[in-house]
Amino acid sequence: MLPIYFAPIQGYTDDVYRRIHHRMIGGIEEYYTPFVRVEVGSIRSKDIRDILPANNKNVPVVPQIIFNSRKEFEYLTNRLIEYGYNRIDLNMGCPFPLQARHKRGSGILPHIDIVSDIIEGMKTYNNITFSVKMRLGWDNNNEATSIIEILNNIDLQHITIHPRTGVEQYKGSVDIEKFRTLYSYSYNPIVYNGDITTLDDIHIIEDKFPGLKGIMVGRGLLCNPLLASEYSESKEFGNTQRIIKMLEMHNALMVEYSRILKGDTQMLNKMRTFWEYSEPVLGRKPYKKVMKSGNLKNYLAAVNELKFL
Ligand SMILES: Cc1cc2nc3c(=O)[nH]c(=O)nc-3n(C[C@H](O)[C@H](O)[C@H](O)COP(=O)(O)O)c2cc1C
Repeated sequence: MLPIYFAPIQGYTDDVYRRIHHRMIGGIEEYYTPFVRVEVGSIRSKDIRDILPANNKNVPVVPQIIFNSRKEFEYLTNRLIEYGYNRIDLNMGCPFPLQARHKRGSGILPHIDIVSDIIEGMKTYNNITFSVKMRLGWDNNNEATSIIEILNNIDLQHITIHPRTGVEQYKGSVDIEKFRTLYSYSYNPIVYNGDITTLDDIHIIEDKFPGLKGIMVGRGLLCNPLLASEYSESKEFGNTQRIIKMLEMHNALMVEYSRILKGDTQMLNKMRTFWEYSEPVLGRKPYKKVMKSGNLKNYLAAVNELKFL
């Protein structure tokens, strides 16, 4: 049985979501936080709230940082150390142009010189365990080969590979053969990430790559938050059972978010994200009704109807 890691999804898997998922559903070895970055010389207060130990109590959380230089890498690492972390994930995979254009995320992959400098930086932090999350490259799927080669010079907790380039974003299919090449080429343990939505998908990857350290799942867990617990308990649920559990999780999220958010519009926008990837579980009509409900009252009525599915 492989460990399942919950992928970071900016705007979805915040501290509230992670806490409640861990308490009510589980099956996850580690939850990765959405990336923390430097903005006008410091960390945004929203990002600090997300990584604050008090907001992550008893949840196995790994904070993630994104950077375009050794200076940014060191600043963020030092801040996380101040918050008591000794385990940090490095984002070299984000495809969003806003970050990638500035050599952050997958935009750093063509810049071997910057990555080498950051590796030198990592070597100075003896008490910190790092992992890397990366893609095949920015616009060329050979870039990862050189990066894996230089990462072979340092001991990492693991390298998570999403086998697409940055410019591909989420289009097309994952490149399993390229993943296989990097998997056999890396001295560091490898975690697979990309397009896992069912127990069968997990078993296929498990069978193909027997030496894998684990599997990281993002959108598949947002779609069906029970996926990892179904896997760890070797028990596949039907959609009705999933929806019952999701409604319980939804209600707990409502209570927590209503303490932080102000007004119906903020609540509606936040709560709708909970269902955004769940059309395959809810079915097209109920999904549309929830997503297009327009105001909080209609939204709650549409959610209430889900229990009759
Ligand atoms: C809206 C959105 C936000 C994301 N935010 C992050 C992030 O903050 N850090 C990161 O490493 N990956 C981020 N990702 C990528 C996911 O962690 C994951 O690598 C990707 O969705 C592929 O895995 P999946 O097919 O299991 O979803 C994001 C993806 C999406 C769709």
